[in-house]
Amino acid sequence: KRDAFVVGLMKKMTLDEKLGQLNLVVGGEATTGSSVSTDVETKIKAGKIGGIFSISTPSRIRKTQELAVNQSRLKIPMIFGMDVIHGYKTLFPIPLGISSSWDMGLIEKMARISAIEASADGICWTFSPMVDIARDPRWGRIAEGSGEDPYLGSQIARAMVKGYQGKSYAETNTIMACVKHFALYGAAEAGRDYHTTDMSKVRMYNEYLPPYKAALDAGAGSIMASFNDIDGIPATANNWLLTDLLRRQWKFKGMVVSDYTGITEMVNHGLGDVQTVAAKALMAGNDMDMVSESFVNTLGKSLKEQKVTQAQIDLACRRVLEMKYDLGLFTDPFRFCDENRAKTEIFTAEHRAEARKAAGKSFVLLKNDKQTLPLAKNGTIALIGPLADNKENMAGTWSVSGDFTKCVSVEEGIKNVAGNVTILKARGANIYSDARLDANVSIFGKPTNRDPRSDADMIAEAVATAQKADVIVAALGEAAEMTGEASSRSDISIPENQRDLLKALVKTGKPVVLVLFTGRPLALPWENENLPAILNVWFGGTEAGNAIADVLFGDVNPSGKLSATFPRNVGQIPIYYSHKNTGRPYGGNGTDFQKFQSNYLDVPNSPLYPFGYGLSYTSFEYSELTLSKKTLAMAVPKDVVNVSVTVKNTGNFDGEEVVQLYIRDKVRSITPPVKELKGFQKIMLKKGESKTVSFALSVEDLKFYNSALNFVAEPGEFVVFVGTNSQNVKEAMFTLNK
Ligand code: IFM
Repeated sequence: KRDAFVVGLMKKMTLDEKLGQLNLVVGGEATTGSSVSTDVETKIKAGKIGGIFSISTPSRIRKTQELAVNQSRLKIPMIFGMDVIHGYKTLFPIPLGISSSWDMGLIEKMARISAIEASADGICWTFSPMVDIARDPRWGRIAEGSGEDPYLGSQIARAMVKGYQGKSYAETNTIMACVKHFALYGAAEAGRDYHTTDMSKVRMYNEYLPPYKAALDAGAGSIMASFNDIDGIPATANNWLLTDLLRRQWKFKGMVVSDYTGITEMVNHGLGDVQTVAAKALMAGNDMDMVSESFVNTLGKSLKEQKVTQAQIDLACRRVLEMKYDLGLFTDPFRFCDENRAKTEIFTAEHRAEARKAAGKSFVLLKNDKQTLPLAKNGTIALIGPLADNKENMAGTWSVSGDFTKCVSVEEGIKNVAGNVTILKARGANIYSDARLDANVSIFGKPTNRDPRSDADMIAEAVATAQKADVIVAALGEAAEMTGEASSRSDISIPENQRDLLKALVKTGKPVVLVLFTGRPLALPWENENLPAILNVWFGGTEAGNAIADVLFGDVNPSGKLSATFPRNVGQIPIYYSHKNTGRPYGGNGTDFQKFQSNYLDVPNSPLYPFGYGLSYTSFEYSELTLSKKTLAMAVPKDVVNVSVTVKNTGNFDGEEVVQLYIRDKVRSITPPVKELKGFQKIMLKKGESKTVSFALSVEDLKFYNSALNFVAEPGEFVVFVGTNSQNVKEAMFTLNK
């Protein structure tokens, strides 16, 4: 039915109308580049626009859609997209934060709620999930993804697609997902945004590509090409990537869109003039041109000059039309323009309650000496720091549709949760050490509200305030816009002025609880050494302040586990748990230096906080591992070895624990990582309770891409590890036989 409809429609279309379908323009609510679309109304009427992103509300979208369906010749409806990244109006934690929940049900729910709200506001397409594996915390966009691990990243990619796309597009509260950024964007050299990437195919297939594939296998309808080059060819014009891999190997049938001015940026990449790069993008497999308008402006000429073919244009046009068909826009172009839904389904109490729950589950307790946390719900708290009463930074990066004035600050949260506590407040520091950044750093124009006083004056006031309190809660770290797109940092510490504040607070002798805001793994060696408690709260979204207070006062027991390694210093980057052993592995005690082994003179190899790490107010004890058998046979279909461990809650609080399973292939044809995550289960244990957790490992779980890029398992010995994080594990062995 769809084929007949689309083919029939295309028969009526002129070349210009076909090119119009490939043109995606920006509506202006959020722009991330120098180009902004102009004359949009005239172009719609002329059939020169296929879709618009970054506009919202049923009335605005209805009015815009009417131009297309009432005033253009063929009345083809437009598609409306938006960067719905971690919530729509109800904002959830930034993706790196929510990935730390390791809770797939919760993540799917977040995406579902995002879809309900966005579709109620006229939007039918989101540029999410962002599934780029990132192992370099200098890169600001590490905040937008699920961290360093392909297995965890793939599970999350799947959950997000399921949440956005729901059961079927027949439901008007589903939106189409767009997996991004294809591919390897997270491996930008030196962590500098938009920078080049270069890696072996073996590494790509084993470590970077799985989450994209997982999202597509889950049914994602579209995919966005990334800005970076791969093997010297920008992803946007990379035929191997967009056609050989995506279409031929992975059999993807959906639509490919470029990223912002990704097509014309290839002029700067050094690939030719605008006409040349647009032709290259089309020929490589790019269907829709975001913002650059190079397709609509040059492909006609390229066709005449036989630089592209009619078949290539038709294929791209067909994919755009199929996407619109799947979303039901030909049946009803206004199916997402229901004013009533917009009034009743957005920013509801129920959605906010889910966001609060999600935020609490995303926080990672990095340190908690002498049970500094949870705090008592009485006494006097000195609430210090530039993020203590701040609302706009709670939302985090890429929260373009949110209303920051509705975010709950830490101060408000404490008042809501622990009304009897006396709060004494002082700002203590500005967010940025460098005043220039206040003006320049924000891509979405969020005010940074700089205090004109000197650092010394602010610190003196904070110290005087702290001296009157029982405990200091220091709410500081990064501003939302120090993370995300175009926010790379070469120094990943807490800004110096804020660190000076912390040092002065520690000197008061009062216990200091650091409530750490960040969109990336930070280097926190001084903080880890000198502060009794560190609660990493990322950027928690609309309900951040309430969720922070829930955890600070023990109503919620933290259960988040890091999805990206926290280094000791920037020199350790890239640092990730699944590294190779090398021919000269370090075998020391963790602090000594070993000459002619793989280690540093000035810092241990180990991270400050490993992948999978996160404390709880309670404690968990792991038994030794039990294996159902010691061998697994490739020849026996569906053979599995069951790995079991009993986990006991040995502390004084009920709590959740993420039980993590890793394997190590001891000998194989290409060098194996020292550990690879292959399973996890999040369990709830009441105090004193024990549960036995079992994982079934099959031959599939032991497979990897070999030098010929075949996905194989090789016979031999395997170590299986189960534990509370990637370092603290119990282990056992089994053998894979032919
Ligand atoms: O979706 C984004 C992408 O992540 C970065 N460039 C702009 C796109 C649309 O806003």
